[in-house]
Amino acid sequence: MKISVWKSIPIRSSEITPRSLYLRRREFLKLGAVGAAAALLAACSLADRPISTATPPLRVTPQPGQDEYGDPLTPYEAITNYNNYYEFSTDKEAVARLAKDFQTRPWTIEVSGLVAKPQVFDIEELLRKYPQEERIYRLRCVEGWSMVIPWLGFPLSKLLNDVEPLSSARYVSFLSVSRPEEMPGMRSSFYPWPYREGLRLDEALHPLTILASGLYGEMLPNQNGAPLRLVVPWKYGFKSAKAIVKIELTETQPATFWNLIAPDEYGFYSNVNPQKPHPRWSQATERRIGESGRRPTLMFNGYAEEVAHLYSGMDLMQNY
Ligand code: MTE
Repeated sequence: MKISVWKSIPIRSSEITPRSLYLRRREFLKLGAVGAAAALLAACSLADRPISTATPPLRVTPQPGQDEYGDPLTPYEAITNYNNYYEFSTDKEAVARLAKDFQTRPWTIEVSGLVAKPQVFDIEELLRKYPQEERIYRLRCVEGWSMVIPWLGFPLSKLLNDVEPLSSARYVSFLSVSRPEEMPGMRSSFYPWPYREGLRLDEALHPLTILASGLYGEMLPNQNGAPLRLVVPWKYGFKSAKAIVKIELTETQPATFWNLIAPDEYGFYSNVNPQKPHPRWSQATERRIGESGRRPTLMFNGYAEEVAHLYSGMDLMQNY
């Protein structure tokens, strides 16, 4: 396994956001306007564009400001102003404004279920206990766009090992906060609130899986899931539940928000797979925010070397 993928890079955010990318804001905003016209079910598919024939370069240790393929980080402004967070709004460009006053302190996270040592953590205590490190990961949304994000976080495995999973534990479920009085999107009774997600225990324990508390060296903005969100870089973005209040270990596969809404469209595994089209959108290519044109989507979002073994012997067209 290549540790280069999540190597800590001690640099400041001002150094890792190239000015040339900030100057391409307009392109990004134009893209956002397309997204604003999205339909109820996460629809913001972008017009198909010519596919780039470039093959990804070999893995190398990332340079400051790049992922391991040499691709630049997505500008802070784009990461924090083009968000999926349905508790606030289905309009990606409205989330940042609507989430501005959301209260993320005090905050507790319950870790319970099939564990020997269930615990309720205060967020400050949890962040003191688990040192934050930088991880540069790609986030691939099922809607067809992607970003490269420098998260701050810690491996979920550290927290899970500390609560000592019982041998009967096979899955982990993640529950997002439910505060309709602060979250206007929750007025819609169409959605099966609260937002929830799930992983198999071995996926949750994988070293690439993190709980993120920040990005670009700063505290996580509310719109990106403060104070703590899940990040699983080889899965579609919707797996990464925001504003987590409860983590529960279970024997049976937990229900997930999108699977409850549209099981034919959103499976439990949700691994990035360019060969398995979503019923409404091809997954073969993606548009990197800040770039024109589309690029091929990589199996497991480019993390196959690290995670493919988790699924050996499984039919990934059935287990999507
Ligand atoms: N978590 C909660 N609680 N509510 C949401 O609507 N949206 C998901 C995921 N986590 C969502 C959520 C989806 S669809 C995506 S693509 C990512 O968050 C987007 O994360 P970002 O806004 O930080 O890019």
